[in-house]
Amino acid sequence: MKVAIIGVGNMGGAVCEGLFNKGMDNQFQITAADASQEKLELLKTKYPKLDITTNNQQAAKGADLVIVAVKPWLVQPVVAELQMSQSQIYVSIAAGVDFAQLESYTGLNAQPMYRVIPNTAISDQQSMTLICKSHTTSEQDALITQLFGSLGRVLFIPESKMAAGTALASCGIAYVFKYIQASIQAGIELGLTAQEAREITLQTFIGATTILNEHGQHPAIEIEKVCTPGGITIKGINQLEHDGFTSAVIRAMKASM
Ligand SMILES: NC(=O)c1ccc[n+]([C@@H]2O[C@H](COP(=O)([O-])OP(=O)(O)OC[C@H]3O[C@@H](n4cnc5c(N)ncnc54)[C@H](OP(=O)(O)O)[C@@H]3O)[C@@H](O)[C@H]2O)c1
Repeated sequence: MKVAIIGVGNMGGAVCEGLFNKGMDNQFQITAADASQEKLELLKTKYPKLDITTNNQQAAKGADLVIVAVKPWLVQPVVAELQMSQSQIYVSIAAGVDFAQLESYTGLNAQPMYRVIPNTAISDQQSMTLICKSHTTSEQDALITQLFGSLGRVLFIPESKMAAGTALASCGIAYVFKYIQASIQAGIELGLTAQEAREITLQTFIGATTILNEHGQHPAIEIEKVCTPGGITIKGINQLEHDGFTSAVIRAMKASM
């Protein structure tokens, strides 16, 4: 199966690297196209089996699956240039460009299409990737799940929920970094070194997400376990609420829609 990746910047480059790092090049023949010859050559040096070209049309020609990962405002001219056929699977990694727009750009009716929104953890194959689909078969869905599943966790959602999902995952990762940064700052004020505060915070995050992933219960149950009556944790939790923590997170997510 031939896969073309058009645009190998942050997202397209991470998809390309992830596929090679996960050994998917045994299954897929991968071609990367980009405006930057330098970026292409860097990838080629790392992954000699990668085919590279600055000609988008050439990359897409004969590909079974075409992944377009350019900036949203470049999607229309790039897609027009590709001249895709009805039989090619089109994967768009562009925030905010919907199926109606994509179909008007390709000029094709009922082409199998996916909108895929990873987050930046795709660089370490730990993405939360949201996918919605249009005119696809279950075999194609399985293929996309396998491909992006090798780069993290995937969740299929209706197109109407993509903006909400993007706020939680693609923007949300920045809010998680913000909490981590704040925790490290607090640790330093409390007398820990930056390195100690970082290590403690990161492992605490891993622990919390592992508990919730493994046992599937509501976070409130885990918070209650830590809150001894009259103890120090409930004092901190209440202070967070006095300072509007829950409201601040909800408002941040809504602002990102
Ligand atoms: N970053 C995120 O967290 C995130 C999350 C979800 C979705 N997305 C979506 O991912 C898409 C790509 O974002 P990104 O952050 O990866 O952007 P990026 O780093 O700028 O990557 C885009 C790449 O496309 C190249 N390019 C520009 N014009 C081209 C053309 N005509 N033909 C082929 N390649 C061309 C760029 O080269 P030059 O640099 O030389 O121009 C660059 O290497 C966006 O649509 C964005 O909405 C991003």
